[in-house]
Amino acid sequence: VQLIKDTDGRVTSIVMRKPFDMHHHVRDGEMLKVIAPMLARRFAGGIIMPNTSPPIVTAKQVGDYRKRLLDETGEDFTPLMTMYLTDTLDCDEVMEASKLHDMFGVKYYPRGLTTNSDSGVADPASLWTPGTRPYEVLQTLSRIRRTLLLHAADGFDRTGKELNPYEQEPHFIRETLPRIKDAHPHLKISVEHLSTIEGADYMQSNGDAFLGCSLTSQHLLLDTRDLHRGGFNAHRSWFPIIQGEEHKERLLALAKKGLPFVWLGTDSAPHPVSDKEAACCKGGVMMVHAGIELYAEAFDKAGALANLEDFASKNGPNFYGVQQSNDTITLRRQSWTVLENFSLPVADGADPRSGVVRPFRLGEQVEWQLAA
Ligand code: DOR
Ligand code: ZN
Repeated sequence: VQLIKDTDGRVTSIVMRKPFDMHHHVRDGEMLKVIAPMLARRFAGGIIMPNTSPPIVTAKQVGDYRKRLLDETGEDFTPLMTMYLTDTLDCDEVMEASKLHDMFGVKYYPRGLTTNSDSGVADPASLWTPGTRPYEVLQTLSRIRRTLLLHAADGFDRTGKELNPYEQEPHFIRETLPRIKDAHPHLKISVEHLSTIEGADYMQSNGDAFLGCSLTSQHLLLDTRDLHRGGFNAHRSWFPIIQGEEHKERLLALAKKGLPFVWLGTDSAPHPVSDKEAACCKGGVMMVHAGIELYAEAFDKAGALANLEDFASKNGPNFYGVQQSNDTITLRRQSWTVLENFSLPVADGADPRSGVVRPFRLGEQVEWQLAA
């Protein structure tokens, strides 16, 4: 990494290895076509999330989805495909997909706790209970050295009482993750979009070559005040839920340490405005238009720009065993305004808002800019 400074010692630009986004929802169809070029401009590759509808559960789906994505990004982009862990996911399909189609991991979604999670695992205990299909899949992943990616949230405590949403991740970290690790000691695990103090403390003590985590820029930049200022702000709403300031500060402290098991995952998750400004707002917001720029902002705030390259461009690919990029990108300290919504074709008679996708920070400034 090269940090270029002005006479006051302030970093004005960064030249770094092209990053990898280890958590991205590219969606499918027309949305995919809008997202893919922005993704490939900023990132050399990344983890492609499988919660499309229908979810990605067969080797053929993995191969076809990968091809649809590469048609839009070009072959220079390296998609690390994933499959969706259901209660019936077939181990042979997992092995086949990993052999044929660059399938790097299987994503666990707790049923009902996030967007498109209806097919998710009904009972987290099946992750450590022999005889269940999710258990068998985790055994297979250990054997073929592929990663289990975790949406680390529990919906209920051990007595069956529904949890406060702010407690979902801490509960999972305390009660569920250690059981998975004990049952599958050779399994590689990535805890996705870490969002709490409890998560950060656990990772700091337990992270290693078999256990890592991704961090989003939104969880490093926002806290509950940003979500609720003047009313509920649907266009800043994600799962996991944005937590209080002390959590944000703890995550920034983890990010800035430069630990090898902590990496970038935007969790860019675009939805049409009709699904965001709805009776029940879907979780997820488009981040790809500023997918690396916003991390520069967060690391700058934390005084940790020197560690941005390891976090963004090295740690993720190293963990997943793929080559780092030999390309570089340049980021400049130059603020710009997010000016426009993105549009998709709308079917005749459909809600026009179903063809509008609102990017994060619309009408607001982003402090860093990607050089052309
Ligand atoms: O906010 C989120 N959106 N969190 C997720 O886990 C899923 C994602 C989506 O697919 O929209
Ligand atoms: Zn996600």
